[in-house]
Amino acid sequence: MTDPAIRSVLKEDRLFPAPADFVTRARIHSRDAYDARRAQALASPEAHWAEIACELHWYRMWDRVLDWKPPHARWFGGATTNLAFNCLDRHLHTARRHKAALVWEGEPGDVRTMTYAQLHREVCLFAGALEGLGVRKGDRVAIYMGMVPEAAVAMLACARIGAVHSVVFGGFAAEALRDRINDAGAKVVITQDASWRRGKEVPLKVNVDRALEETPSVEHVVVLRRTGAAITRVAGRDHDFHELLASAKPRTEPEQLDAEHPLFILYTSGTTGKPKGVVHTTGGYMVGVFASTRDVFDLREEDLHFCTADIGWVTGHSYVVYGPLLNGATSLMYEGAPDHPDQARLWSIIERHGASILYTAPTAIRAFMKWGDHLPARHDLSSLRLLGTVGEPINPEAWTWYHRTIGGGRCPVVDTWWQTETGAIMIAPMPAVVPQKPGSATLPLPGIDVSVVRHDGTECGPNEGGLLLVNRPWPSMLRTVWGDDARYVEQYWARFPGRYLTGDGARRDEDGYLWLMGRIDDVVNVAGHRLGTAEVESALVSHPAVAEAAVVARPDELKGEALVAFVTLKTGHDATDVLKTTLADHVAQEIGKFAKPDVIRFAAALPKTRSGKIMRRLLREVAQGKQTTGDTTTLEDLNVLATLRSDDE
Ligand code: WTA
Repeated sequence: MTDPAIRSVLKEDRLFPAPADFVTRARIHSRDAYDARRAQALASPEAHWAEIACELHWYRMWDRVLDWKPPHARWFGGATTNLAFNCLDRHLHTARRHKAALVWEGEPGDVRTMTYAQLHREVCLFAGALEGLGVRKGDRVAIYMGMVPEAAVAMLACARIGAVHSVVFGGFAAEALRDRINDAGAKVVITQDASWRRGKEVPLKVNVDRALEETPSVEHVVVLRRTGAAITRVAGRDHDFHELLASAKPRTEPEQLDAEHPLFILYTSGTTGKPKGVVHTTGGYMVGVFASTRDVFDLREEDLHFCTADIGWVTGHSYVVYGPLLNGATSLMYEGAPDHPDQARLWSIIERHGASILYTAPTAIRAFMKWGDHLPARHDLSSLRLLGTVGEPINPEAWTWYHRTIGGGRCPVVDTWWQTETGAIMIAPMPAVVPQKPGSATLPLPGIDVSVVRHDGTECGPNEGGLLLVNRPWPSMLRTVWGDDARYVEQYWARFPGRYLTGDGARRDEDGYLWLMGRIDDVVNVAGHRLGTAEVESALVSHPAVAEAAVVARPDELKGEALVAFVTLKTGHDATDVLKTTLADHVAQEIGKFAKPDVIRFAAALPKTRSGKIMRRLLREVAQGKQTTGDTTTLEDLNVLATLRSDDE
């Protein structure tokens, strides 16, 4: 295959237009029409979103598309709808009735397919089972599972009855689970005996049992048998998933919910040690996710959409479960690790099932590159027609490798920028009409109005780096932080009133393409997991040997960023390698393995400003092995810095 790039001197100037046969068949295939649509959406955003919303099912139509009292928005006010109805029931009277909704492959190699009719039936039954356990509209349900179809069933069942789900990533430890359950006040926890990860069992039920020692709100636990691991069953509290289904009265009538009824809470990292419960509501989220899935992935009836994200993250919510189902597509779900039993697992999955869209993260792509071209080469990947990435900036080498080696040069690559808070994709190329530049997420979607600004709020010039803002509300935006509206206001809207602060840096080039430059705050991206360094610090400080900790990131070839922890010890504790391992394990225990610092360095004291703030900028430079630059007059103890730098790891 010839490289379709139009080369020029500057690497960033390479343009990858979609191949002609892709364009001919694409949903959106005229650049002029697309530009007109974007212009129109900017001129009258409410009409734009209402037009999309009209394609979905509402029991009652809205009185007003948008009610905006900054920073609080109500979308489709007065309307009622049901997301599960739109994902399932809506398709049952069409040719999609017996179409596969989910194709699932377990890590051990077992495969299951659920048609829309089958998924609908199971969701109705499980919704009935939840009601049987006393779950009512507005109650919170925690879902702590691996990537199994029942996780999607549980989410949809909650949506059907108006219970608010809080999916907690199955990689989180008992303590992190406990905190999330308590913050949401969950009444029921849905879990499984254990999940498969690299051939080993992750003991989810054991973690739930530990978490539930301190979760007064939980009344019931539903346990799916997946691996057959031995579990303890607490009488009256614990219920078997399939036994419940067998005796449940199906809930066939979906609850008619207000468009602004909360749909889910999803915890994400912020700049403080306490995770934020991002709240999404029903109607707006549905509209944003429906349209972005269809347009960005150029979704066709016959597609098999393979998004590798875990449902514990927002990408799994929006692009494994809700987006594909809202569009009547087939979503391919894989349970396990990409390198089990070997590093060609994803390629063999794509070949065996005939996936046509692959949506994954740059960190995964870098791992695939490292594992070698011979692995994908052994598999027939010709079913693929579109590739996507999300989660962090993708370096041009990884982008072009993905395009060439996985996509065979014929698949457009959509680099999609968005966040847990935005609910749906915000910046991405329309694959057929926006030629891609490797490393750029390109243009905002129709109806999304963004700016790159200086610290004083004035617009940056071309190629000038600044803060990325969203200038107006959009339907799938978060509505608040669960139980902490002040934090919502402060974190996202206080700095530039009426405009949403994304927390990311960006620049816009002379063609209007956006280049994301990473976080401007103390939130880092480690192997696609968004982590607040403060969370890791809190975990470290909770160890009895630790007096103080500062965690910073340094660039890492594979993981994007790696964590370096600077730790001062309480007197009486010796700085030993054994203690380093203990502390790393302690973080794994408190948060999860993915949060383990890559390097722990002991220091006599941490560099601080006169007001006592840890000087992270300096620590970052130390962590990266750079010379200290800039002003250090606010340092309390300059010796501290010298000691740190000479400290050999
Ligand atoms: C980063 C994941 C560059 C960004 C959907 C954002 C990206 C954070 C991209 C949100 C991209 C996501 N290019 N950076 N295409 N996509 N990010 O909440 O820093 O887990 O703020 O949502 O990931 O991470 P979150």
